[in-house]
Amino acid sequence: MEEVIKIEGGHRLHGTVRISGSKNSTVALIPACVLGNAPITIYGVPNISDVKSLMELLRELNVYVEQIDEETLYIDPTKMNNIPMVSNAVSKLRASYYFMGALLGKFGHAEIKMPGGCYLGPRPIDLHLKGFEALGASITYENGCYILHADELIGNRIFLDISSVGATINIMMAAVYAKGRTVIENAAREPEIIDIATLLNKMGAKIHGMGTSTLVIDGVGELKTSGCNHEIIPDRIEAATYIIMAAAIADDMIIENVIPQHLEAILMKLEEIGINMKVGPDFVEIFGRNQELKPTEILTKPYPGFATDVQQPFTALLTQAAGQSVVTETIYTERFKHCYELNKMGADIDVRTPSGFVNGKTKLSGTSVVATDLRCGAALVVAGLMAEGITEIHDVYHIDRGYDNLDNKLRSLGAVFWREKVE
Ligand code: EPU
Repeated sequence: MEEVIKIEGGHRLHGTVRISGSKNSTVALIPACVLGNAPITIYGVPNISDVKSLMELLRELNVYVEQIDEETLYIDPTKMNNIPMVSNAVSKLRASYYFMGALLGKFGHAEIKMPGGCYLGPRPIDLHLKGFEALGASITYENGCYILHADELIGNRIFLDISSVGATINIMMAAVYAKGRTVIENAAREPEIIDIATLLNKMGAKIHGMGTSTLVIDGVGELKTSGCNHEIIPDRIEAATYIIMAAAIADDMIIENVIPQHLEAILMKLEEIGINMKVGPDFVEIFGRNQELKPTEILTKPYPGFATDVQQPFTALLTQAAGQSVVTETIYTERFKHCYELNKMGADIDVRTPSGFVNGKTKLSGTSVVATDLRCGAALVVAGLMAEGITEIHDVYHIDRGYDNLDNKLRSLGAVFWREKVE
């Protein structure tokens, strides 16, 4: 029996939705907590399956982890053991690779199998490994497992060929205890990186230049031995997803607990295609549209450009624009599987990698579709809300990896959304 999501489309949304803590921050903050030797309390933790997988991994390392309430995690690494990380939980998410940087940094040794996560085309980790090597680590790959070792890590100047989010965070974590200064050039500037560096600095690390493309880490002999607290930033991708849902089918909807500055590229695109909105200090209110949506061109870019993660749900919205929109991927050139699923619902998207040509406006009808990855799932939910009839989404575990409390949030906005077990 498989659990599927069902959506009866056509019901207009209204009301307020509160955005949860950032998934992509959380999945790096949790491994970052083990770098120190003191308990840490993290607030605003989203209730998603990636967090459950990371809690499993922490327990395997004998790190004490307790869910204090729905959104609060208490993590105490004082009794942790550095054992090889080869369990199934490692393969459930991409972010398990952050234990490479954390364990290498703390113990000079890490053994971990290849991480999992959404398939978006090839997702190499060569830049992470080059960074660790530049700090003095040796790396071998045996029986599907990376073995990283360094008697001593020494700060170095590292240039990232691509401003990779994962490589920036991983190298930053490994460099916290490295002797001397590490400089990461062409570092990624995503808000999540600032969030991780902020926690590490609270723990006693010395990191400067967060949010710029030059990240400087001055190695410290030890981190603080007394605990600290951290509140996770709001999830800009979850926020963008609800904003797109509102643009698709709401008359008036407020998306609260957002940092609008993190969403600038997306909000400007929405204005360009004809969505009316009001942007407050920590909320966005969407009033819908009083005209036909205009087609547009999207080019995904690292932050502060248009986020690749948002490209997928945005494409679902563009099926309702009158004319041809062009969506071009520069981060993951194969991130177009959602287009084939949207076409099953009546969209007309011609994928010629690295672009999708969305010919609108097309009527969408509910049918059986597959969430091939997390944000494909988000795109199908957007489409399902707009479609005539019932949309049945399979492989919903991808969606549950990244959207906190989706069912209740959508129902409270007036969506007709439920789950069913099917053969
Ligand atoms: N890349 C390399 N070599 C590397 C690392 C990356 O060639 O060693 C390439 C990738 O193949 C890609 C580009 O560099 O073409 C950027 O990848 P990046 O490393 O920045 O991505 P990531 O860290 O693996 C994070 C998010 C993704 C998000 C990307 C891009 C997490 C856990 N994941 O992935 O989020 O799409 O940054 O912004 O933070 C999602 O939330 O659905 C998701 C997939």
